Parts: sequence; structure tokens; C-alpha cells
Amino acid sequence: MDNHHFFMQRCLQIARNGLGNVAPNPMVGAVLVHHGTIIAEGYHRACGLPHAEVEAIGQVRSTALFKESTLYVSLEPCCHFGKTPPCTDLILSSKIPRVVVAVADPFHKVNGGGIERLQKSGVEVITGVLEQEAQHLNRRFFTYHTQQRPYIILKWAQTADGFIDKQRTPNEPPAAISNAAAHRLSHWWRGQEQAIMVGTRTALYDNPALTTRLCAGKNPIRVVVDADGKLPKTLQLLDNQSNTIVIETREVSQMLQILYAKGLQSVIVEGGAALLQSFISSGLWDEARVFVAPQNIDKGVAAPLVHGGHTAATCSIGNNTLHLIHSKQSPTFRRY
Ligand SMILES: NC(=O)c1ccc[n+]([C@@H]2O[C@H](COP(=O)([O-])OP(=O)(O)OC[C@H]3O[C@@H](n4cnc5c(N)ncnc54)[C@H](OP(=O)(O)O)[C@@H]3O)[C@@H](O)[C@H]2O)c1
Repeated sequence: MDNHHFFMQRCLQIARNGLGNVAPNPMVGAVLVHHGTIIAEGYHRACGLPHAEVEAIGQVRSTALFKESTLYVSLEPCCHFGKTPPCTDLILSSKIPRVVVAVADPFHKVNGGGIERLQKSGVEVITGVLEQEAQHLNRRFFTYHTQQRPYIILKWAQTADGFIDKQRTPNEPPAAISNAAAHRLSHWWRGQEQAIMVGTRTALYDNPALTTRLCAGKNPIRVVVDADGKLPKTLQLLDNQSNTIVIETREVSQMLQILYAKGLQSVIVEGGAALLQSFISSGLWDEARVFVAPQNIDKGVAAPLVHGGHTAATCSIGNNTLHLIHSKQSPTFRRY
């Protein structure tokens, strides 16, 4: 690994600390290197807080070191006034002569403008170091800005013989499928996404709260499909614990347009089978996370059938097996 890769790897590593807190901003890490030694580092902690470059540069007391330093940053520095001033201004006023950038920012107010501004002011800019890794880290942000839709994660638990529930009435409890660890992991995942979505029958049958109550993490915005307005107001989903968006269309592409217009960069879709299958059929999904439990229940609600994807990883969560599947149509995974 050469030095550029080594320092950029560190940027990506610390950037990840912002997961679940920075959206709709991207996760970004920055390190300042003086003659081969990291003298400062920083990451974007939460939306509205200073950017990674500001965090890193602000740590340095001996400002004379700047003129012999290189700034590594996992996303192009911004050049516009948002919630904070442009990072390019700070880099220029600090007189840092060289900046290494992993990937250009697709956000229309930046989109190469930050790199151009630095170069026009005489800063040496090196781009494309660990570019694909940096894009992958911010796959929600990139999907939102380049595809004009949220990044879609499909998630469900199924039995070994391929069912997500027994056949039942709303008054009966659902079949217990995933184990406690898988359940907790699912709640942790919820806190990493901006929204969580379920279908009409799941809302009626399960009356889910869709919160992160089993772990620390922000509750995502809840989204429920109710095309005919038949869901009762007494459902937990419609309480005031966190915001809920009620979608009144059955068309997946229209659902995504609505969620895009609301600025949501990622949605975890947690069932049921019909809703999940309609995302798969439309090709509008990016990854699926499927728990398979060892038990058989012989009959019930059939699990979705995945097509157009490939299993990227499989691991054990206690006695459940977790399959991570990437969509071949997703712009994030198309290249594999
Ligand atoms: N094991 C798990 O991980 C898991 C997770 C969630 C749910 N579940 C179970 O799954 C069962 C419910 O699943 P389900 O497949 O019967 O129902 P579902 O997917 O939750 O809801 C399906 C209903 O949603 C409405 N809908 C609107 N737009 C749709 C679209 N684009 N695609 C599909 N449906 C759309 C339709 O109702 P209208 O025609 O009335 O609009 C449709 O009948 C329950 O037993 C629940 O407990 C299991």
C-alpha cells in the first residue's frame, strides 16, 4: 500500500463514525500529514456540525506546519455556504499546498467546483485515491444525488423452508422466526437509515412500532403504504413517537419519487412479502439482508424470491444465517 492509500484508508475509517448521524450529509474523514506523519485528523460527526476538514485543521496549534503538509480527505471539499462555510476557503487561508481527494462530490452545489477552486488558487490536487471505496462508503448519498431516489435495503427473516410467517389472522401472534441477536442487529440497522418502510398488511397484522428500542440509535422516519386509506389511526405506526409518512400509491417508482422529494437518502424495507417482491420485480433495490432460521413451518406466507442479485457474504448470527445480497441493477454494485 503506498502512502496515499494508507492515509486515505484512515480517512475512510474515521468517516464511518458518522454513520447514522450525518445524513443527509455524507460521511467524510480527513487527515493532515506533515512529512509522513499524521498530525491531525477529523470526521464529520453530525449534520450541522463542522466538516471533516475543519475538524482536522482546527486541531493544529503550530500553524507554520500547514505549508509543509498534505490534507487527505475522503470527499471533495465543499465550495459553497451550507450550514457551515466553504471548506475550500479554510484550506486556502491555511496555505496547505497539497490536497488528496478520494472522490468528487456529486451534490450539484459542489460537483467538481471545490477541486477547481483549489487548483485555480495554486493548490496541487490529487484525485481518485480509493475512489470506489469512498463512493461505496457513501452509497446512500451517491444513489440519492445520481439516481434521484433513496438507496433501498430490503430486509426480512425466513424459515429454512422459505416462509416469513405462518398463515394467520391479525389477532394471532406472528411466527417467531429470527433469534434475539438477529432482532437486535435489525434494530441497529434501523438507526443507520433515514427511513423504514412496511406494507399495508404488515402494518395491520403486526402493528409494528418500527423503532430502535433494542439498541442505541435514532428512530428512522416510518413509511407505510396505505393506498386506500384503510389503516386504523390506532396503529403504533401512527402514534407520535416519531414521524410517519403514509404513501397512497402502489407503484414502487412513485413511492421512491415521494421519498426522494422528502429528502430521504435511504430506506430499509422490512416487509411483508408482497411489498418486498414488488421492489425486487421493479429492479429498484440495492441490497437485501435475509436471515434464514433453522426451523420449518410447512406452510404460510412465502418469502420473497430474489432475482437479479448475487450473494456477497454469508455469516452466522447464532443459529440464524444472514445472507447479504447485492442487486446487479444497483448502480452501487453493477460493477461486480
Ligand atoms: N419475517 C419477516 O421478516 C416479516 C416481515 C414483515 C412482515 N412479515 C409478515 O408478512 C405478512 C404480511 O406480508 P404480505 O405479503 O401479506 O403483505 P405486505 O407486503 O405487508 O402488504 C401487502 C399489501 O400492501 C399493499 N400494497 C400497496 N402497494 C404495494 C406494492 N407495491 N406491493 C405490494 N403490496 C402493496 C397491498 O394492499 P392494498 O391492495 O390493500 O393496497 C398489498 O396487499 C404478515 O404475516 C407479517 O407478519 C414478516
